[in-house]
Amino acid sequence: MDRIRIVGGNALNGIIPISGAKNAALPLMIASLLTSDTLTLENVPHLADVEGLIRILGNHGVDIAVNGRREHQDGSYSRTVHFTCRTVADTTAPYELVSKMRASFWVIGPLLAREGQARVSLPGGCAIGTRPVDLFIEGLTALGAEMEIDGGYINAKAPKGGLIGARYTFPKVSVGATHVMLMAASLARGTTVIGNAAREPEVVDLANCLIAMGAKISGAGTSTITIEGVPSLSGARHRVLPDRIETGTYAMAVAMTGGDVTLAGTELGLLDTAIEAIRRAGAEVSAVEGGIRVIGHGDAIRPVDIVTEPFPGFPTDLQAQFMGLMTRANGVSHVTETIFENRFMHVQELARLGAKITLSGQTARIEGVSRLRGAPVMATDLRASVSLVIAGLAAEGETMVSRVYHLDRGFERLEEKLTRCGAIVERISD
Ligand code: UD1
Repeated sequence: MDRIRIVGGNALNGIIPISGAKNAALPLMIASLLTSDTLTLENVPHLADVEGLIRILGNHGVDIAVNGRREHQDGSYSRTVHFTCRTVADTTAPYELVSKMRASFWVIGPLLAREGQARVSLPGGCAIGTRPVDLFIEGLTALGAEMEIDGGYINAKAPKGGLIGARYTFPKVSVGATHVMLMAASLARGTTVIGNAAREPEVVDLANCLIAMGAKISGAGTSTITIEGVPSLSGARHRVLPDRIETGTYAMAVAMTGGDVTLAGTELGLLDTAIEAIRRAGAEVSAVEGGIRVIGHGDAIRPVDIVTEPFPGFPTDLQAQFMGLMTRANGVSHVTETIFENRFMHVQELARLGAKITLSGQTARIEGVSRLRGAPVMATDLRASVSLVIAGLAAEGETMVSRVYHLDRGFERLEEKLTRCGAIVERISD
Protein backbone atom coordinates (compact mmCIF):
# COMPACT_ATOMS: atom_id res chain seq x y z
CA MET A 1 0.00 0.00 0.00
CA ASP A 2 1.36 3.44 -0.90
CA ARG A 3 2.50 5.88 1.74
CA ILE A 4 3.34 9.56 1.54
CA ARG A 5 6.47 10.88 3.17
CA ILE A 6 6.60 14.55 4.03
CA VAL A 7 9.48 16.53 5.43
CA GLY A 8 7.92 19.64 6.88
CA GLY A 9 9.18 23.15 7.33
CA ASN A 10 9.31 24.55 3.80
CA ALA A 11 7.13 27.47 2.78
CA LEU A 12 5.06 26.95 -0.39
CA ASN A 13 5.78 29.23 -3.33
CA GLY A 14 4.59 29.02 -6.92
CA ILE A 15 1.51 27.98 -8.84
CA ILE A 16 -0.87 25.15 -8.04
CA PRO A 17 -3.33 24.30 -10.81
CA ILE A 18 -6.76 23.44 -9.44
CA SER A 19 -8.47 20.42 -10.99
CA GLY A 20 -12.08 19.94 -11.99
CA ALA A 21 -14.31 19.22 -8.99
CA LYS A 22 -14.72 15.56 -8.08
CA ASN A 23 -18.09 16.28 -6.51
CA ALA A 24 -19.33 17.89 -9.72
CA ALA A 25 -17.75 15.37 -12.08
CA LEU A 26 -19.48 12.39 -10.41
CA PRO A 27 -23.11 13.58 -10.81
CA LEU A 28 -22.34 14.98 -14.27
CA MET A 29 -21.02 11.60 -15.37
CA ILE A 30 -24.14 9.93 -13.97
CA ALA A 31 -26.29 12.37 -15.97
CA SER A 32 -25.01 10.65 -19.13
CA LEU A 33 -27.47 7.84 -18.31
CA LEU A 34 -30.33 10.23 -19.10
CA THR A 35 -29.72 10.41 -22.85
CA SER A 36 -28.87 8.16 -25.78
CA ASP A 37 -26.67 10.95 -27.20
CA THR A 38 -23.10 11.71 -26.23
CA LEU A 39 -22.38 13.84 -23.18
CA THR A 40 -18.90 15.33 -23.37
CA LEU A 41 -17.32 16.55 -20.16
CA GLU A 42 -14.20 18.70 -20.12
CA ASN A 43 -11.89 19.23 -17.17
CA VAL A 44 -12.62 15.81 -15.68
CA PRO A 45 -10.13 15.12 -12.87
CA HIS A 46 -8.07 11.95 -12.93
CA LEU A 47 -9.04 10.39 -9.61
CA ALA A 48 -9.74 6.94 -8.22
CA ASP A 49 -13.41 7.84 -7.67
CA VAL A 50 -13.81 8.98 -11.28
CA GLU A 51 -12.18 5.80 -12.59
CA GLY A 52 -14.43 3.75 -10.28
CA LEU A 53 -17.54 5.48 -11.60
CA ILE A 54 -16.38 4.96 -15.19
CA ARG A 55 -16.39 1.22 -14.49
CA ILE A 56 -19.81 1.39 -12.84
CA LEU A 57 -21.32 3.35 -15.72
CA GLY A 58 -19.80 0.85 -18.15
CA ASN A 59 -21.82 -1.80 -16.38
CA HIS A 60 -25.01 0.14 -17.12
CA GLY A 61 -24.15 0.37 -20.82
CA VAL A 62 -22.30 3.68 -21.06
CA ASP A 63 -19.52 3.74 -23.67
CA ILE A 64 -16.67 5.92 -22.55
CA ALA A 65 -13.92 7.50 -24.62
CA VAL A 66 -11.17 9.49 -22.96
CA ASN A 67 -9.17 12.08 -24.89
CA GLY A 68 -5.45 12.17 -24.21
CA ARG A 69 -4.33 14.38 -21.35
CA ARG A 70 -2.59 17.56 -22.36
CA GLU A 71 -0.38 19.51 -20.04
CA HIS A 72 -0.83 23.27 -20.05
CA GLN A 73 1.68 25.99 -19.25
CA ASP A 74 0.65 26.24 -15.60
CA GLY A 75 1.18 22.51 -15.12
CA SER A 76 -2.53 21.66 -15.21
CA TYR A 77 -3.96 18.81 -17.19
CA SER A 78 -7.34 18.73 -18.75
CA ARG A 79 -9.12 15.58 -19.65
CA THR A 80 -12.12 15.44 -21.90
CA VAL A 81 -14.31 12.37 -21.57
CA HIS A 82 -17.20 11.34 -23.84
CA PHE A 83 -20.05 9.31 -22.36
CA THR A 84 -22.60 7.61 -24.58
CA CYS A 85 -25.42 5.44 -23.31
CA ARG A 86 -27.27 4.38 -26.48
CA THR A 87 -29.28 1.85 -24.53
CA VAL A 88 -29.25 1.05 -20.85
CA ALA A 89 -27.73 -2.42 -20.57
CA ASP A 90 -28.55 -3.07 -16.92
CA THR A 91 -30.78 -1.24 -14.43
CA THR A 92 -29.19 -2.98 -11.45
CA ALA A 93 -26.37 -1.39 -9.47
CA PRO A 94 -24.87 -4.22 -7.42
CA TYR A 95 -23.58 -4.08 -3.87
CA GLU A 96 -19.96 -4.77 -4.88
CA LEU A 97 -19.93 -1.51 -6.83
CA VAL A 98 -22.19 0.79 -4.78
CA SER A 99 -20.47 -0.12 -1.50
CA LYS A 100 -17.15 1.14 -2.89
CA MET A 101 -18.47 4.58 -3.76
CA ARG A 102 -21.56 6.04 -2.23
CA ALA A 103 -22.21 8.47 -5.07
CA SER A 104 -22.84 5.58 -7.45
CA PHE A 105 -26.15 5.12 -5.61
CA TRP A 106 -27.25 8.25 -7.47
CA VAL A 107 -27.73 6.23 -10.70
CA ILE A 108 -31.13 5.45 -9.21
CA GLY A 109 -32.44 8.83 -10.45
CA PRO A 110 -31.60 8.60 -14.15
CA LEU A 111 -32.28 4.85 -14.41
CA LEU A 112 -35.73 5.29 -12.93
CA ALA A 113 -36.49 8.31 -15.12
CA ARG A 114 -35.28 6.78 -18.38
CA GLU A 115 -36.09 3.08 -17.94
CA GLY A 116 -38.94 3.26 -15.45
CA GLN A 117 -37.13 0.98 -13.02
CA ALA A 118 -33.95 0.53 -11.07
CA ARG A 119 -32.56 -1.92 -8.55
CA VAL A 120 -29.80 -0.27 -6.60
CA SER A 121 -27.91 -1.61 -3.61
CA LEU A 122 -28.12 0.39 -0.41
CA PRO A 123 -24.72 2.01 0.05
CA GLY A 124 -24.17 0.66 3.56
CA GLY A 125 -22.31 2.32 6.40
CA CYS A 126 -19.54 4.77 5.95
CA ALA A 127 -16.64 5.89 8.08
CA ILE A 128 -17.99 9.39 8.58
CA GLY A 129 -21.46 8.53 9.80
CA THR A 130 -24.51 6.44 9.02
CA ARG A 131 -25.48 8.39 5.88
CA PRO A 132 -29.00 7.08 5.31
CA VAL A 133 -30.97 7.27 2.04
CA ASP A 134 -34.40 8.21 3.40
CA LEU A 135 -34.44 11.54 1.55
CA PHE A 136 -33.88 9.83 -1.80
CA ILE A 137 -36.71 7.42 -1.07
CA GLU A 138 -39.11 10.19 -0.01
CA GLY A 139 -38.23 12.43 -2.93
CA LEU A 140 -38.59 9.76 -5.61
CA THR A 141 -41.79 8.52 -3.97
CA ALA A 142 -43.16 12.05 -4.32
CA LEU A 143 -42.54 11.72 -8.08
CA GLY A 144 -44.79 8.67 -8.10
CA ALA A 145 -42.17 5.92 -7.82
CA GLU A 146 -42.82 2.79 -5.82
CA MET A 147 -39.81 2.24 -3.62
CA GLU A 148 -39.31 -1.06 -1.86
CA ILE A 149 -36.37 -2.31 0.17
CA ASP A 150 -35.56 -5.93 -0.48
CA GLY A 151 -32.46 -7.87 0.50
CA GLY A 152 -30.24 -4.82 0.86
CA TYR A 153 -31.47 -3.34 -2.40
CA ILE A 154 -33.94 -0.63 -3.27
CA ASN A 155 -36.32 -1.70 -5.99
CA ALA A 156 -37.69 1.43 -7.60
CA LYS A 157 -40.49 1.45 -10.15
CA ALA A 158 -42.01 4.42 -11.96
CA PRO A 159 -45.74 4.56 -12.73
CA LYS A 160 -46.88 3.54 -16.22
CA GLY A 161 -45.97 6.45 -18.48
CA GLY A 162 -43.10 7.56 -16.25
CA LEU A 163 -42.41 9.72 -13.21
CA ILE A 164 -44.82 12.55 -12.47
CA GLY A 165 -43.76 16.06 -11.47
CA ALA A 166 -44.64 17.08 -7.91
CA ARG A 167 -43.87 19.52 -5.14
CA TYR A 168 -41.48 18.13 -2.60
CA THR A 169 -39.64 19.85 0.23
CA PHE A 170 -36.65 18.09 1.76
CA PRO A 171 -36.78 17.98 5.58
CA LYS A 172 -32.99 18.30 5.55
CA VAL A 173 -30.55 19.62 2.96
CA SER A 174 -28.88 16.84 0.99
CA VAL A 175 -26.52 17.38 -1.92
CA GLY A 176 -26.91 13.86 -3.29
CA ALA A 177 -30.70 13.75 -2.97
CA THR A 178 -30.93 17.14 -4.73
CA HIS A 179 -28.79 15.82 -7.61
CA VAL A 180 -31.01 12.76 -7.92
CA MET A 181 -34.25 14.76 -7.86
CA LEU A 182 -32.88 17.13 -10.52
CA MET A 183 -32.03 14.25 -12.82
CA ALA A 184 -35.24 12.31 -12.20
CA ALA A 185 -37.56 15.33 -12.51
CA SER A 186 -35.92 16.45 -15.77
CA LEU A 187 -37.60 13.50 -17.53
CA ALA A 188 -40.82 13.45 -15.46
CA ARG A 189 -44.22 14.48 -16.81
CA GLY A 190 -45.16 17.93 -15.57
CA THR A 191 -43.53 20.35 -13.18
CA THR A 192 -41.50 19.56 -10.08
CA VAL A 193 -40.73 22.08 -7.38
CA ILE A 194 -38.00 21.07 -4.94
CA GLY A 195 -38.00 22.95 -1.65
CA ASN A 196 -35.03 23.14 0.74
CA ALA A 197 -32.76 22.11 -2.13
CA ALA A 198 -29.00 22.02 -1.69
CA ARG A 199 -27.38 25.22 -3.02
CA GLU A 200 -23.87 23.89 -3.54
CA PRO A 201 -22.03 25.06 -6.68
CA GLU A 202 -21.93 21.42 -7.81
CA VAL A 203 -25.75 21.38 -7.87
CA VAL A 204 -25.67 24.49 -10.07
CA ASP A 205 -23.09 22.82 -12.30
CA LEU A 206 -25.28 19.76 -12.75
CA ALA A 207 -28.33 21.95 -13.45
CA ASN A 208 -26.39 23.93 -16.07
CA CYS A 209 -25.31 20.74 -17.78
CA LEU A 210 -28.87 19.36 -17.74
CA ILE A 211 -30.10 22.66 -19.19
CA ALA A 212 -27.52 22.30 -22.00
CA MET A 213 -28.98 18.82 -22.56
CA GLY A 214 -32.44 20.33 -23.01
CA ALA A 215 -33.84 20.25 -19.45
CA LYS A 216 -35.99 23.11 -18.20
CA ILE A 217 -34.65 24.07 -14.80
CA SER A 218 -34.77 27.35 -12.92
CA GLY A 219 -33.66 28.36 -9.46
CA ALA A 220 -30.58 26.14 -9.10
CA GLY A 221 -28.32 27.76 -6.52
CA THR A 222 -31.33 28.85 -4.46
CA SER A 223 -33.28 26.66 -2.07
CA THR A 224 -36.24 26.32 -4.47
CA ILE A 225 -35.61 24.63 -7.82
CA THR A 226 -38.31 24.30 -10.46
CA ILE A 227 -38.03 21.65 -13.15
CA GLU A 228 -40.44 21.32 -16.06
CA GLY A 229 -40.12 17.79 -17.30
CA VAL A 230 -39.28 17.13 -20.96
CA PRO A 231 -39.81 13.87 -22.90
CA SER A 232 -36.13 13.38 -23.71
CA LEU A 233 -32.72 14.94 -23.29
CA SER A 234 -29.95 15.27 -25.83
CA GLY A 235 -26.17 15.30 -25.67
CA ALA A 236 -24.14 18.33 -24.66
CA ARG A 237 -20.63 19.55 -24.00
CA HIS A 238 -19.94 20.84 -20.51
CA ARG A 239 -16.88 21.91 -18.53
CA VAL A 240 -16.65 20.63 -14.93
CA LEU A 241 -16.33 23.53 -12.50
CA PRO A 242 -13.13 23.97 -10.45
CA ASP A 243 -12.76 22.00 -7.22
CA ARG A 244 -13.55 24.35 -4.33
CA ILE A 245 -12.44 21.79 -1.74
CA GLU A 246 -9.06 21.36 -3.40
CA THR A 247 -8.85 25.17 -3.63
CA GLY A 248 -9.58 25.61 0.07
CA THR A 249 -7.21 22.81 1.04
CA TYR A 250 -4.21 24.36 -0.70
CA ALA A 251 -5.14 27.83 0.56
CA MET A 252 -5.08 26.45 4.11
CA ALA A 253 -1.78 24.70 3.44
CA VAL A 254 -0.23 28.02 2.43
CA ALA A 255 -1.78 29.79 5.42
CA MET A 256 -0.13 27.17 7.60
CA THR A 257 3.34 26.86 6.03
CA GLY A 258 3.69 30.46 4.91
CA GLY A 259 4.58 31.40 1.35
CA ASP A 260 2.98 32.86 -1.74
CA VAL A 261 0.98 30.64 -4.05
CA THR A 262 -1.36 31.25 -6.95
CA LEU A 263 -4.16 28.72 -7.20
CA ALA A 264 -4.79 28.67 -10.93
CA GLY A 265 -8.11 28.02 -12.66
CA THR A 266 -10.35 28.56 -9.66
CA GLU A 267 -12.60 31.30 -8.25
CA LEU A 268 -13.09 32.99 -4.89
CA GLY A 269 -16.88 32.97 -5.29
CA LEU A 270 -16.98 29.18 -4.94
CA LEU A 271 -15.89 29.27 -1.32
CA ASP A 272 -16.55 32.69 0.22
CA THR A 273 -17.14 31.44 3.76
CA ALA A 274 -13.99 29.35 3.88
CA ILE A 275 -11.92 32.17 2.37
CA GLU A 276 -13.28 34.54 4.99
CA ALA A 277 -12.17 32.11 7.72
CA ILE A 278 -8.70 31.78 6.15
CA ARG A 279 -8.38 35.58 6.02
CA ARG A 280 -9.43 35.90 9.63
CA ALA A 281 -6.74 33.38 10.47
CA GLY A 282 -4.25 35.87 9.04
CA ALA A 283 -3.53 34.84 5.45
CA GLU A 284 -3.98 37.28 2.57
CA VAL A 285 -6.27 35.97 -0.14
CA SER A 286 -7.08 37.88 -3.30
CA ALA A 287 -8.54 37.31 -6.72
CA VAL A 288 -5.94 37.55 -9.48
CA GLU A 289 -6.21 36.97 -13.19
CA GLY A 290 -6.96 33.29 -13.75
CA GLY A 291 -7.17 32.33 -10.10
CA ILE A 292 -6.56 33.17 -6.46
CA ARG A 293 -3.40 34.34 -4.74
CA VAL A 294 -2.73 33.26 -1.16
CA ILE A 295 0.02 34.73 0.98
CA GLY A 296 0.56 32.94 4.27
CA HIS A 297 2.56 34.10 7.25
CA GLY A 298 3.15 30.72 8.84
CA ASP A 299 3.74 31.48 12.50
CA ALA A 300 1.24 34.33 12.87
CA ILE A 301 -1.95 32.25 12.68
CA ARG A 302 -4.95 33.65 14.55
CA PRO A 303 -7.57 31.39 16.17
CA VAL A 304 -10.94 31.34 14.38
CA ASP A 305 -14.11 29.44 15.31
CA ILE A 306 -16.04 27.74 12.53
CA VAL A 307 -19.27 25.74 12.22
CA THR A 308 -19.88 23.51 9.21
CA GLU A 309 -23.14 24.09 7.37
CA PRO A 310 -24.70 23.41 3.98
CA PHE A 311 -23.59 25.86 1.27
CA PRO A 312 -23.06 28.82 1.53
CA GLY A 313 -21.84 27.97 5.05
CA PHE A 314 -18.42 26.58 5.89
CA PRO A 315 -18.06 23.23 4.02
CA THR A 316 -17.76 20.04 6.02
CA ASP A 317 -15.26 18.85 3.42
CA LEU A 318 -12.83 21.57 4.61
CA GLN A 319 -13.39 21.02 8.32
CA ALA A 320 -10.46 18.66 8.91
CA GLN A 321 -8.06 20.87 6.97
CA PHE A 322 -9.14 23.97 8.90
CA MET A 323 -8.65 22.12 12.15
CA GLY A 324 -5.15 21.28 10.93
CA LEU A 325 -4.52 24.99 10.41
CA MET A 326 -5.88 25.85 13.85
CA THR A 327 -3.50 23.44 15.57
CA ARG A 328 -0.82 26.09 15.08
CA ALA A 329 -2.91 29.17 15.90
CA ASN A 330 -1.88 31.59 18.65
CA GLY A 331 -4.77 30.73 20.96
CA VAL A 332 -7.88 28.58 21.31
CA SER A 333 -10.38 27.91 18.53
CA HIS A 334 -13.49 25.76 18.16
CA VAL A 335 -14.60 23.67 15.21
CA THR A 336 -18.19 22.43 15.21
CA GLU A 337 -19.35 19.75 12.77
CA THR A 338 -23.09 19.79 12.04
CA ILE A 339 -23.32 17.75 8.82
CA PHE A 340 -21.84 14.37 9.70
CA GLU A 341 -21.92 12.87 13.17
CA ASN A 342 -18.57 11.12 13.11
CA ARG A 343 -16.22 13.34 11.22
CA PHE A 344 -13.47 13.81 13.79
CA MET A 345 -11.27 10.83 13.06
CA HIS A 346 -8.39 13.14 12.15
CA VAL A 347 -8.30 14.42 15.75
CA GLN A 348 -6.31 11.52 17.14
CA GLU A 349 -3.96 11.53 14.18
CA LEU A 350 -3.33 15.30 14.49
CA ALA A 351 -2.64 14.67 18.18
CA ARG A 352 0.20 12.35 17.11
CA LEU A 353 1.82 15.40 15.53
CA GLY A 354 1.54 17.28 18.81
CA ALA A 355 -1.83 19.02 18.37
CA LYS A 356 -3.87 19.72 21.51
CA ILE A 357 -7.50 18.97 20.73
CA THR A 358 -10.34 17.96 23.01
CA LEU A 359 -13.70 16.77 21.79
CA SER A 360 -17.03 17.50 23.34
CA GLY A 361 -19.95 16.21 21.31
CA GLN A 362 -19.84 17.80 17.88
CA THR A 363 -17.34 20.47 18.87
CA ALA A 364 -13.57 20.27 18.95
CA ARG A 365 -11.56 22.68 21.10
CA ILE A 366 -8.15 23.30 19.64
CA GLU A 367 -5.42 24.89 21.67
CA GLY A 368 -2.81 26.10 19.25
CA VAL A 369 0.76 24.93 19.76
CA SER A 370 3.89 26.71 18.61
CA ARG A 371 5.16 23.69 16.74
CA LEU A 372 4.10 20.32 15.45
CA ARG A 373 6.51 17.43 15.12
CA GLY A 374 6.41 14.87 12.33
CA ALA A 375 5.16 11.35 13.14
CA PRO A 376 3.68 8.31 11.41
CA VAL A 377 -0.06 8.87 10.93
CA MET A 378 -2.90 7.06 9.23
CA ALA A 379 -5.35 8.44 6.71
CA THR A 380 -8.93 7.59 7.70
CA ASP A 381 -11.10 9.27 5.09
CA LEU A 382 -10.58 11.50 2.13
CA ARG A 383 -10.66 14.95 3.73
CA ALA A 384 -9.17 13.82 7.05
CA SER A 385 -6.15 12.44 5.24
CA VAL A 386 -5.34 15.67 3.46
CA SER A 387 -5.49 17.52 6.77
CA LEU A 388 -2.64 15.27 7.91
CA VAL A 389 -0.67 16.14 4.79
CA ILE A 390 -0.98 19.87 5.35
CA ALA A 391 -0.19 19.53 9.04
CA GLY A 392 2.84 17.44 8.04
CA LEU A 393 4.00 20.24 5.73
CA ALA A 394 4.05 22.60 8.70
CA ALA A 395 5.54 20.10 11.18
CA GLU A 396 9.21 19.74 12.03
CA GLY A 397 10.79 16.58 10.67
CA GLU A 398 9.26 13.64 8.89
CA THR A 399 5.60 12.67 8.69
CA MET A 400 4.64 9.40 7.07
CA VAL A 401 1.00 9.14 6.03
CA SER A 402 -0.22 5.60 5.43
CA ARG A 403 -3.41 4.42 3.69
CA VAL A 404 -3.14 7.13 1.08
CA TYR A 405 -5.67 5.44 -1.20
CA HIS A 406 -8.13 7.77 0.55
CA LEU A 407 -6.22 10.74 -0.86
CA ASP A 408 -6.16 9.26 -4.35
CA ARG A 409 -9.95 9.23 -4.34
CA GLY A 410 -10.13 12.99 -4.33
CA PHE A 411 -6.82 14.81 -4.84
CA GLU A 412 -5.26 14.79 -8.27
CA ARG A 413 -1.45 14.58 -8.33
CA LEU A 414 -1.14 15.95 -4.80
CA GLU A 415 2.58 15.18 -4.38
CA GLU A 416 3.46 16.72 -7.72
CA LYS A 417 1.47 19.90 -7.08
CA LEU A 418 3.07 20.41 -3.67
CA THR A 419 6.58 19.47 -4.76
CA ARG A 420 6.48 22.05 -7.54
CA CYS A 421 5.91 24.68 -4.84
CA GLY A 422 8.92 23.67 -2.80
CA ALA A 423 7.47 21.08 -0.43
CA ILE A 424 9.26 17.83 0.26
CA VAL A 425 6.59 15.24 -0.42
CA GLU A 426 7.11 11.85 -1.96
CA ARG A 427 5.05 8.76 -2.55
CA ILE A 428 6.53 5.51 -1.40
CA SER A 429 5.11 2.43 -3.10
CA ASP A 430 5.77 -0.75 -1.17
C1 UD1 B 1 -21.92 15.25 -0.68
C2 UD1 B 1 -20.45 15.26 -1.01
C3 UD1 B 1 -19.60 15.15 0.24
C4 UD1 B 1 -19.99 16.25 1.22
C5 UD1 B 1 -21.49 16.24 1.47
C6 UD1 B 1 -21.96 17.41 2.32
C7 UD1 B 1 -20.32 14.23 -3.20
C8 UD1 B 1 -19.86 13.07 -4.02
N1 UD1 B 1 -20.16 14.13 -1.88
O1 UD1 B 1 -22.19 14.00 -0.06
O2 UD1 B 1 -18.23 15.29 -0.14
O3 UD1 B 1 -19.32 16.04 2.44
O4 UD1 B 1 -22.20 16.32 0.22
O5 UD1 B 1 -21.58 18.62 1.73
O6 UD1 B 1 -20.77 15.22 -3.71
N2 UD1 B 1 -28.78 12.49 4.76
C9 UD1 B 1 -29.89 11.88 5.31
N3 UD1 B 1 -30.71 11.16 4.47
C10 UD1 B 1 -30.45 11.04 3.14
C11 UD1 B 1 -29.32 11.69 2.59
C12 UD1 B 1 -28.51 12.41 3.44
O7 UD1 B 1 -30.14 11.96 6.51
O8 UD1 B 1 -31.24 10.36 2.44
C13 UD1 B 1 -27.90 13.25 5.66
C14 UD1 B 1 -26.47 12.73 5.69
O9 UD1 B 1 -26.33 11.64 6.57
C15 UD1 B 1 -25.72 13.96 6.18
C16 UD1 B 1 -26.50 15.10 5.53
O10 UD1 B 1 -27.77 14.57 5.18
O11 UD1 B 1 -25.80 14.06 7.56
C17 UD1 B 1 -25.88 15.69 4.30
O12 UD1 B 1 -25.54 14.66 3.40
P1 UD1 B 1 -25.54 14.87 1.83
O13 UD1 B 1 -25.59 16.32 1.51
O14 UD1 B 1 -26.57 13.98 1.23
O15 UD1 B 1 -24.11 14.30 1.45
P2 UD1 B 1 -23.69 13.53 0.13
O16 UD1 B 1 -24.51 14.01 -1.02
O17 UD1 B 1 -23.62 12.07 0.39
